[in-house]
Amino acid sequence: MTLLDAPAQGLVLGPYTLEKPLGQGGFASVWAARKGDGTGVAVKILKPRYAGDEAFELRFRQESQFAANLSHPRVIRIGEIGREGMLVYFAMELYPASLATALAQGPLPEPQLLAITRDVAEALAFAHAQGVVHRDIKPDNILLDEVGRAVVSDFGIARAVSGYVSATGVNMTIGTPHYLSPEQAQGRPLDGRSDLYSLGITLYKAATGDLPFKSKDWYELARMHVEEAPAPPRQNHPDLSKKLERIILRLLAKHPDDRPASAEELLHELDAMQDPGRDTRSFKVPDAYRGSVTTSIPAHKPGEKEKKWWKPW
Ligand SMILES: Nc1ncnc2c1ncn2[C@@H]1O[C@H](COP(=O)(O)OP(=O)(O)OP(=O)(O)O)[C@@H](O)[C@H]1O
Ligand SMILES: [Mg+2]
Repeated sequence: MTLLDAPAQGLVLGPYTLEKPLGQGGFASVWAARKGDGTGVAVKILKPRYAGDEAFELRFRQESQFAANLSHPRVIRIGEIGREGMLVYFAMELYPASLATALAQGPLPEPQLLAITRDVAEALAFAHAQGVVHRDIKPDNILLDEVGRAVVSDFGIARAVSGYVSATGVNMTIGTPHYLSPEQAQGRPLDGRSDLYSLGITLYKAATGDLPFKSKDWYELARMHVEEAPAPPRQNHPDLSKKLERIILRLLAKHPDDRPASAEELLHELDAMQDPGRDTRSFKVPDAYRGSVTTSIPAHKPGEKEKKWWKPW
């Protein structure tokens, strides 16, 4: 092993000294670190086996640069990409918690949940307007500050990974498949409404403490996203408001056309929810949830093995 081929406490990467590991995902680890002037930052470090792969590193650099240019109060700020030895990294603002760590204590109270949803919807509305689909909205990528305001992290990263996978054929799964949209599960083209579905799964988890679809098997989970109707959140949590349930179920519609048309529209629905005087007719529960699932995606027949449209990404 040469020096600087694995992150460790006390390691110096450019201006940053690593202090504490915060966690790791599919292809990177994140450390709390400190700059020479004492400022705390988070440093995301590509796992050495990917830093050694030029094609991946290039994509990671391009997408990180792209994300660094997304400047919005609800999108995490990230800095220059650097390299020390085999370690490729970038710094970003350090947050004390994520939605994932907050949910480890149990479901969130509805007002707090709605405030976070609004913050995430603002970040998505901004990014989608720039043509950026996040592709990996989930509690780990929603970071919370001391007063519970949320920012979204990892814009562009999932695109770097999926672009690399389709260009090279390398089999590489990022993160968890629990938050994948049906169109991601099928390798179909994506637009911003895919992020709205992943936000719906995130809200379901945040409101009920549970995921709508659970399986250890990747393909089974993908099939559930495509075909199975989620149990209505109020089934086990009657204390949740009907309006919140309607929003969650609309976000979880199988077909993108049955979801809110945009993050902007979701923001309007959240406004209407907080103001009972406003017209709320758009809170229509998708027909897919009245009785059996009806979408443009062909239904799975029991015993049927593989379908033509089935194409894992
Ligand atoms: N700027 C940050 N401040 C505080 N914690 C962070 C920061 N960025 C990431 N984290 C936390 O560090 C952990 C690892 O993050 P990372 O993005 O590498 O993986 P992930 O989001 O869990 O999965 P994926 O592989 O899909 O990216 C996560 O729990 C995340 O919430
Ligand atoms: Mg992340």
